[in-house]
Amino acid sequence: MTVDELRRAFLAFFEERGHRRIPSSSLVPHGDPTLLFTTAGMVQFKPYFMGLAEPPARRLTSIQRCFRTTDVESVGDATHLTAFEMLGNFSVGDYFKPEAIGWAWEFLTGVLRIDPARLWATVFTTDDEAARLWAERGVPEDRILRYTAEQGNWWGPPGDTGPMGPCSEMHYDWGKTPGCRHCEANTCHPDIGCGRFLEIWNLVFMTYQQEEDGSQTDLPAANIDTGAGLERLASVVQGARTVYETDELNRLITVAERVSGRKYDTNKSPDVAFALRAMTEHARALAFLATDGVLPSNEGRGYVLRRLLRRAIYFAYKIGIREPFLEQMVDAAIDLSYQTNPQMLEQRDFIKRLARVEEARFLQTLDRGLTLLDEVIERGRSTRRIPGRDAFTLYDTHGLPLELTVEVAQSHGYEVDREGFEKEMELQRERSRGEEAFTAQHDDRALRYAALGIETAFVGYDGLDARSEVLHLERGGEPVIRLEAGETGEVVLRQSPFYPEGGGQVGDHGLVVTTTGQFRVRDTQKYGETIVLTGEVEQGHIEISAAAEARVDAARRADTARNHTGTHLLHAALRSVLGTHVRQAGSYVGPDRLRFDYTHPEAPTEAEMTAVQRMVNAKIRADIRSETFVLGYEEAIARGAIAFFEDRYTDTVRMVEYCDTRGNDPEHMHTSECYSRELCGGTHLHATGEVGMLIVVSDISIGAGLRRIEAVTGAAAERFIEDRAGLVNILARRFKVPAAEVLGRIDALEESLAAERKRVEEAERRASAGLADDLIGRAEQVDGVSVVVARVTADSPDALRVIADRLRPKLGVSFIFLAADAKGRPAFLASASEEVIARGLRADEVVRAAAALAGGGGGGRPNLAQAGGKDAAQIDAAVELARKTVRERLGG
Ligand code: SER
Repeated sequence: MTVDELRRAFLAFFEERGHRRIPSSSLVPHGDPTLLFTTAGMVQFKPYFMGLAEPPARRLTSIQRCFRTTDVESVGDATHLTAFEMLGNFSVGDYFKPEAIGWAWEFLTGVLRIDPARLWATVFTTDDEAARLWAERGVPEDRILRYTAEQGNWWGPPGDTGPMGPCSEMHYDWGKTPGCRHCEANTCHPDIGCGRFLEIWNLVFMTYQQEEDGSQTDLPAANIDTGAGLERLASVVQGARTVYETDELNRLITVAERVSGRKYDTNKSPDVAFALRAMTEHARALAFLATDGVLPSNEGRGYVLRRLLRRAIYFAYKIGIREPFLEQMVDAAIDLSYQTNPQMLEQRDFIKRLARVEEARFLQTLDRGLTLLDEVIERGRSTRRIPGRDAFTLYDTHGLPLELTVEVAQSHGYEVDREGFEKEMELQRERSRGEEAFTAQHDDRALRYAALGIETAFVGYDGLDARSEVLHLERGGEPVIRLEAGETGEVVLRQSPFYPEGGGQVGDHGLVVTTTGQFRVRDTQKYGETIVLTGEVEQGHIEISAAAEARVDAARRADTARNHTGTHLLHAALRSVLGTHVRQAGSYVGPDRLRFDYTHPEAPTEAEMTAVQRMVNAKIRADIRSETFVLGYEEAIARGAIAFFEDRYTDTVRMVEYCDTRGNDPEHMHTSECYSRELCGGTHLHATGEVGMLIVVSDISIGAGLRRIEAVTGAAAERFIEDRAGLVNILARRFKVPAAEVLGRIDALEESLAAERKRVEEAERRASAGLADDLIGRAEQVDGVSVVVARVTADSPDALRVIADRLRPKLGVSFIFLAADAKGRPAFLASASEEVIARGLRADEVVRAAAALAGGGGGGRPNLAQAGGKDAAQIDAAVELARKTVRERLGG
């Protein structure tokens, strides 16, 4: 059975048992600030288990792409993967232990035909029911083990808070491991970790919730969450001792062999095998992560990816690969996986380029890191030890993995202070934990409202005003029954036309009016199913249960909608001009402007940006009508909708379309093509014409492969153009030429400025030449030496040098000392012929003494020296001092 057949068999098995098939969600958990990556199939279902949202069905099944950072250091061995697929079946308050255990057994032994004699079960210490259920399937008592939470039979929460529960695992027995004394004594079991057992399925009986304050509460229902690693299960089914020998990963190993020219042979060259596996795994992780928008960077998710890639490159380096390989491997990884994740195909060129750039960059730092390591080794001659701090800096700043530092150090007979390194590493981890420890406050509030049964219906797509009722009031986080005039607080309505912040779009502002008072809404947010209005009571008071009239600030909403529709048009235009690898990486849509972050490896050319802006404005002029649909997720995707951000599966999704055929588009013949089709919950315009105009204000790089556009629409765009045009008019008036000639006028001015500068330089040159000639005439003869000691007019130390250079050849054996007031700062220069130096008169000595007198310093060589000072009033005294020194030394 191939890996792909296993995927299909699993889904079919659970579909036959009433499960709804749900597509994999993104590796970047959507709307879940407690998690860095999607680490399990249940992540996208968390709100269902927590009772925060209604599931599309009570029985669900999925194949979820997952990413785990634990055990990165082990990747390259037989079993650990960072990126993998997880097969799962889930029950949201529907079936429980008997079905979960029964079906797992039936699938393993019946469908996959795994020999029951090789299966062991573990259950949580006190879970008699699970133990009994396995026994009823025929698992002998001595192969049903009771494990504690520490031994792995408690799962969750993923992150700091969330659902969890006792679990039960299935382990596959490969047979005795040679050299394991427990195997010999027949006392071995999965927790010994000798490599004999492989965990293949985890069944979680999810009934508890870990709260932020450390307490544990009951979930609304008893749920089932199971997870079986696809690659591990495949290794059992295919009789492959490592996941890398299963059909899909093995094809990648073959590519690694080809690019490295090394043979994959776990027995003969385990180091090479380890390196080939690490290269394989990490290249695949790049394909997975980058497709979901994670790009290498120095923080957060991007840093995790960057470390993996460096690890892969390092291991390749270690087995002698000096040529880039990552691009070829990632290409092959995409070939293997795009069937299950078609977005990979669109992103292929972009991801390959990322691989190329990242690899080239690291190969450079790798060289530099190794050079720095040489220096550290040089410094440590006496101790023959690499301090932990240095090893850490090499690792952290220069990307040199510790293993490499250790290896190089050992070849010099050095040790590395691993403890010190670990200490630095721990500090670093704490720093990053701080970054990752997002608050679970949002979830808490959602739970609180759900418990109180407070839900709001959003009615703001079609109207801006609504009749409603005050459901709930809060002041300073405490529920109240009344908010008084002047008080700031929160209002929850039964129906809200106010759009809550989401999908990049800001929350609405407006008014809530009741018979007793008026509340000014300054922000709108959503927690679970509850829309919360924040603001203050402007008049009278607001009471709970009062009938209320809700009025959205229409102008603000309209401006925001202009920017939201503008964002969709911009997104479509970028994909059309730059390529379909362009994807949204974040956005801000407010009434004032829009910000759109997107992936693209280099700065678009001016011509490309112009093309994008023109295309958007053509679509605006075409006044294309919008159409909104609420439909099934798969159907929306099948219709070609872009769905980067709405990546959590919900039963139905909202799709916003701007299709040329519906509008009057004189610039483009009617086609059946939809110009823009996105899954989006935001509020949009009825037709693109209302955008008015879109102007891109800036486009900048915000990280490797990431760019940010800021743009304005409607009146803000008009204002922007007015400002720019106004500026040109001001310039035209200043230069007294028509606007079209301003540029020519500036060119002409620059030219004349350059000519003027040249003229001044020439005049200065002539003046110093004249000065030099004059000084020659005044040279004093002191015992066979021509001496010039003078204060001259010059406005820079350089000018002094020009004069001295001109004097020297004409004076023969000479000593020159020049001083000047260079724009308020004393400048000194001295020059001495060799013969003069031999007689004890040095240029640097004289200059230093003179400069000291004027509060400065400087120096040079015995034959030529220059210095500056601070006190221009001392210049004459300095000249006198120089004169005196010269006389003394030359005996004149
Ligand atoms: N959530 C559990 C796990 O990840 C089972 O899916 O192991």
